[in-house]
Amino acid sequence: MDGSFNLRGADAPFYLPQGDECDIFAAAHAKNLPLLLKGPTGCGKTRFVAHMAAKLGRPLYTVACHDDLSAADLIGRYLLKGGETVWVDGPLTRAVREGAICYLDEVVEARKDVAVVLHPLTDDRRILPIDRTGEELHAAPGFMLVASYNPGYQNIMKTLKPSTRQRFLSLEFTFPRPEHEIPVVVRESGLDADRVGLLVRLAGKLRGLKGQDLEEGVSTRLVVYAATLIAGGMAMDRAVRAAMIEPLTDDADIRAGLMDLVVAVMG
Ligand SMILES: Nc1ncnc2c1ncn2[C@@H]1O[C@H](COP(=O)(O)OP(=O)(O)OP(=O)(O)O)[C@@H](O)[C@H]1O
Ligand SMILES: [Mg+2]
Repeated sequence: MDGSFNLRGADAPFYLPQGDECDIFAAAHAKNLPLLLKGPTGCGKTRFVAHMAAKLGRPLYTVACHDDLSAADLIGRYLLKGGETVWVDGPLTRAVREGAICYLDEVVEARKDVAVVLHPLTDDRRILPIDRTGEELHAAPGFMLVASYNPGYQNIMKTLKPSTRQRFLSLEFTFPRPEHEIPVVVRESGLDADRVGLLVRLAGKLRGLKGQDLEEGVSTRLVVYAATLIAGGMAMDRAVRAAMIEPLTDDADIRAGLMDLVVAVMG
């Protein structure tokens, strides 16, 4: 569920900025401000955080939030080890102690008690009270909290409360423009720019159907998948079906309609 790695700038995972998001992240980090990333699935949020953590030379702890995730999962708990009870830090506590970046992916999924923990950490106190041990940790220099969520999926029960949301700077991620998406997919897949251009055009058309037939448009991640299969020798129509059509819907009629669109765009 979590892991830490620390790469120095030169080895930072590839990330092509869409705008000034790298500057905003760096400024937020320098000024101890937490950051919220909003946007659809597969548009580069996780890659962006990994890239920035490496560029800033901070370890990164990523936590994939889910509806069972509780404050104790983030903070830590007493565990039995060889007949003794020992305290084991959770990923958030480790990040607070080490001055690392803690990335809470899909934070709205987490249980309500998580918000209570985040509040004193995300205002100017920067403290993490650990009730179970009686400790009150002050975040080490370099600590930063980053959270993400996909506003498209949230139902009314699962939005961030204003008192939580207004503790974070926010950046909105969207599907990239073609002139931005093509170099990303070329770089990630190794496929030539001409064929990637076709895939990106198709992706644009499929995104236009969001809300009518499709819950969410095709992500850059899926375009990278398709391009990777094609670069590996798979026929284009087969790769497109597996990577860009099948994942979008389970409805066979809609899929058939989407394949007509594929033929219209790609010939
Ligand atoms: N700006 C970008 N620079 C480099 N790669 C990108 C960029 N945008 C998207 N990608 C590619 O898209 C893939 C998916 O991105 P990523 O995993 O960061 O999405 P995400 O927004 O975190 O999605 P989710 O909400 O599903 O977690 C990456 O592995 C990478 O190949
Ligand atoms: Mg992600």
